[in-house]
Amino acid sequence: MGLDKHGSEMFIERRGVIGAFLHWLRRGRDRLRAARRGRRTNKQRFSRLAFLLAAIFLFCVVALGLNMFLHGKMEGRASSTLAVKVADTAKGADTVKEVNSVQEASIVSGVGKKPTTKHRKRHLPCEITLSDSVKNLVEPSSFINFTQFSLHYIEKEEHSIPRFGGHQNLGEREKSFHARSQKLHCGFVKGPARFPSTGFDLDEKDKLYMNTCKVVVSSCIFGSSDFLRRPTSKRITEYSKKNVCFVMFVDEETLATLSSEGNIPDDTGHIGLWKIVVVKNLPYKDMRRTGKVPKLLSHRLFPSSRYSIWLDSKMRLYTDPMLIIEYFLWRTRSEFAISNHYDRHCVWEEVLQNKRLNKYNHTAIDEQFLVYQSDGLTKFDPADPNTPLPSYVPEGSFIVRAHTPMSNLFSCLWFNEVDRFTSRDQLSFAYTYLKLRRLNPDRQFRLHMFKDCERRAIAKLFHHRELPVPASP
Ligand SMILES: *[C@@H]1O[C@H](CO)[C@@H](O)[C@H](O)[C@H]1NC(C)=O
Ligand SMILES: *[C@@H]1O[C@H](CO)[C@@H](O)[C@H](O)[C@H]1NC(C)=O
Repeated sequence: MGLDKHGSEMFIERRGVIGAFLHWLRRGRDRLRAARRGRRTNKQRFSRLAFLLAAIFLFCVVALGLNMFLHGKMEGRASSTLAVKVADTAKGADTVKEVNSVQEASIVSGVGKKPTTKHRKRHLPCEITLSDSVKNLVEPSSFINFTQFSLHYIEKEEHSIPRFGGHQNLGEREKSFHARSQKLHCGFVKGPARFPSTGFDLDEKDKLYMNTCKVVVSSCIFGSSDFLRRPTSKRITEYSKKNVCFVMFVDEETLATLSSEGNIPDDTGHIGLWKIVVVKNLPYKDMRRTGKVPKLLSHRLFPSSRYSIWLDSKMRLYTDPMLIIEYFLWRTRSEFAISNHYDRHCVWEEVLQNKRLNKYNHTAIDEQFLVYQSDGLTKFDPADPNTPLPSYVPEGSFIVRAHTPMSNLFSCLWFNEVDRFTSRDQLSFAYTYLKLRRLNPDRQFRLHMFKDCERRAIAKLFHHRELPVPASP
């Protein structure tokens, strides 16, 4: 959620020849995009057109002598290897890395990729070395050697105003941070029998399907806030197509929008690799807060799953999920992996940024921040060699989890903060993590915070849908 309208890739209209040219390019891209969504069968013709446009574009760049001017503003343009500066490490140390621009970037969106503004840093993928094949992958035997305890969840409360997150009081909140066998709030709390559901209602068949999943890739679109981006099928192995559940949660409104655009689930409820699961009776009015349910509570939605990968709808997956699990979890012996923010590392900065962009009610942000400061949240200190995290601000659009007790506990605690305070989960991440560590010094929680450029290497980033597309007549 961190990188939306305010992100670094906003399109800036340029005046004169360049402006007109970019405008023309953008229109071409929009048409292409619409066509691509509508009919996959025309894909070949359109990729030929894309190449043609790209060729014209390159010619124009040369002809107008804009090479220098545009260099540094276009991302993922050339199909060759680029040497780029990745200003991405937590401690501000810039590193120069070779980046192979990914094939899809040059084919699918090579036309009219949005230029970034002049003063912004470029954020590009960095090279990551995935395993060659899923065949040789073996879950390390020591991998199960994580802190053991058992979690149970409060399913029901006798409260006259039932709510999805339940009514956790401050004492219960404090206790829940202790890593031991316990029963805690973690969403999906029902009210007394005479009351209607607290929301996030699923079809029984979908629940049965979800109960069978062992490894899950999931995402959501609520309130038609985005397009459906299918995982790049040719990059997903047959093994994963058979064994991994790809679940896209949508509400009824989004389903209607998708259908009107020609994205209609088949008889098995799939659109491409995505199994579309319709959520009825959304638990919160705020769609972003509702989006935190599948984002943070995959262990509750998929009770038999051992691993899950969360992907924001603005990303298209083009890496095999098993390779992702090997790279981010097994190789680093981690149970929870999330990327750091590409720009901000201190919660203080994040608070300012949230207010500057009016992301949320300022009073509510202040209340949350005050509680956190009075309960020990400190500023991020990049100079401290013992800093417990490489950054206190995550870029939570991509999360890889092993469903271990510590990982599940952390997810519940984080969700409860989002339920209690603002829905801006970047504000509560570090607090939740640091408090969990502080209260359980002898219990390991292996959280791996990786670089944002690694996230960019496994999925392609798009912008969220900007305006709702009017339904077809
Ligand atoms: C498992 O964890 C315990 C304590 O956390 C440690 O002493 C032991 O060496 C670990 N075993 C393996 C195989 O990593
Ligand atoms: C903002 O949040 C405060 C405190 O939570 C609340 O009292 C107030 O009504 C909210 N304002 C709006 C406009 O929602």
